[in-house]
Amino acid sequence: METFNSTTSTSLLLLLTILFLSTIVSQINGGGIKTQSEVLGQFYKAKFNQNSNIDKSQVNLDDQHQYLHRKIVVSDQEGLKENDKIDKLPGQPSIKFDQYGGYVTVDKSAGRAFYYYFVEAQRSKDSLPLLLWLNGGPGCSSLAYGAFQELGPFRVNSDGKTLHKNAFAWNHAANVLFVESPAGVGFSYSNTSTDVKIGGDRKTANDNYHFLINWLQRFPEYKDRDFYISGESYAGHYVPQLAHTILYHNKKANNIIINLKGILIGNAVINDEMDTRGMYEYFASHALIPDEVEAEIQKQCKFTGSENEESDECKEAQGIADYDTQPIDIYNIYAPICHNSNLTSNPKKPSIVIDPCSDYYTIAYMNRPDVQKALHANVTGNIKYSTWQPCSDVLTKWTDSPSTIIPLLREFMANDIRVWIFSGDTDGRVPVTSTKKSIKIMNLPMKTPWHPWFLNGEVGGYTQVYKGDMTFATVRGAGHQVPSYEPARALSLIMHFLAGTDLPDSKRHNY
Ligand SMILES: *[C@@H]1O[C@H](CO)[C@@H](O)[C@H](O)[C@H]1NC(C)=O
Ligand SMILES: *[C@@H]1O[C@H](CO)[C@@H](O)[C@H](O)[C@H]1NC(C)=O
Ligand SMILES: *[C@@H]1O[C@H](CO)[C@@H](O)[C@H](O)[C@H]1NC(C)=O
Repeated sequence: METFNSTTSTSLLLLLTILFLSTIVSQINGGGIKTQSEVLGQFYKAKFNQNSNIDKSQVNLDDQHQYLHRKIVVSDQEGLKENDKIDKLPGQPSIKFDQYGGYVTVDKSAGRAFYYYFVEAQRSKDSLPLLLWLNGGPGCSSLAYGAFQELGPFRVNSDGKTLHKNAFAWNHAANVLFVESPAGVGFSYSNTSTDVKIGGDRKTANDNYHFLINWLQRFPEYKDRDFYISGESYAGHYVPQLAHTILYHNKKANNIIINLKGILIGNAVINDEMDTRGMYEYFASHALIPDEVEAEIQKQCKFTGSENEESDECKEAQGIADYDTQPIDIYNIYAPICHNSNLTSNPKKPSIVIDPCSDYYTIAYMNRPDVQKALHANVTGNIKYSTWQPCSDVLTKWTDSPSTIIPLLREFMANDIRVWIFSGDTDGRVPVTSTKKSIKIMNLPMKTPWHPWFLNGEVGGYTQVYKGDMTFATVRGAGHQVPSYEPARALSLIMHFLAGTDLPDSKRHNY
């Protein structure tokens, strides 16, 4: 097991000191928080550091790993659903659907529990499917991003204490469940201190599975409901790995069956080599770095082993690319960056496209004692670290992260699980060029050729469908967090995914 950034305990100490100092600095000047836009880059650096001990071995579908073998414990959830019902969040506009928040224990002996936030559908909650959303990182919160900045029913105002409605919330299409995972992220915690410091893909998948079966016990009316899993970024690992865990347990006799129908991943980490090559290709094709630098990177860099196997020529070219792209938000190359992280005494007029300073509004809101009380979060006050952060600053080690998740995508296609892969086409970090490269190496036969898809008379993006039921779709003009930047197009996408219908190929469609 290794740290994200180093091997030796001295450098770990240094890292922790820097993290600690940066927390203090951020409290002083409001800057320097760890955001989703930084975490993935830092993680990649750590993963390919020459001293990295992160297990990158490919997923073995017959993996008899200890985590799959952990005994499944379903606890009595009697009465807990009623306790979890949220009356009203502070500063919330009035709504006509129910919302819940609370903890589900995922490991009793360790004292590990995941925080969830659940919003029922705005109408037809009894027939619409159940949709789980996961954010990536690793270490970033589905509450911070998914629920309160992307596809949830509310967004936080610039005053940090009131909310406004998101007209394109995904609970127009489904009952939507957000979970903060793994332990150490957001309000999810463990009474065993190492749990919040050390994470890994396998442990996360297994804990997410334990969360889900116990949550379904608490909300039994959703047990037989069509179930879908969605997520973005590093959730390109979490989503398929949870789906794989569900299929594994569904196949075993005497087990609880989860009615998994499909998965949807966006701007997703799929294949390390393709993701990285595609990123530099995107930088050059979008006029961020010189073509010669890109050509040098593609020629000189291997992207398959650790950093010390890379030549000086490779590293030098990468250094130029870093310099050129560092000043912009590569997660949405055309978006403004946040220039003033201060809260405002009166809320700014809400915009449809996310305010680039929204992380700061969300941090202020989630750390309010009245908000935590209303959410039923941090109830026992036993979260040892001091503040809720959008991306964990306590999780510092990661044990395993396979170099590709393509074998899992193939497994789902073979098991009639719907697979959709989408891509906001202004993201430069896990860009459309990366996703296209990963799909290309899958070598799938085509069902419907590439064509524009439409919403309200405009091109919403482009799509191509592969035989064996896999859909690829871009979302035009959206960055890494697609629903934050193109909320209407994102809602149309999720509606078609859930309905299992092709994205509209003519201008006449208006949803
Ligand atoms: C963690 O410890 C606190 C205090 O003893 C306890 O109230 C809580 O239930 C424990 N959490 C879990 C998940 O067991
Ligand atoms: C943010 O608030 C601090 C403290 O009130 C103030 O000193 C600073 O000038 C503000 N920043 C901006 C950009 O307005
Ligand atoms: C949890 O609540 C305690 C007070 O009960 C507070 O000191 C602490 O900052 C909170 N932790 C988080 C992560 O919000």
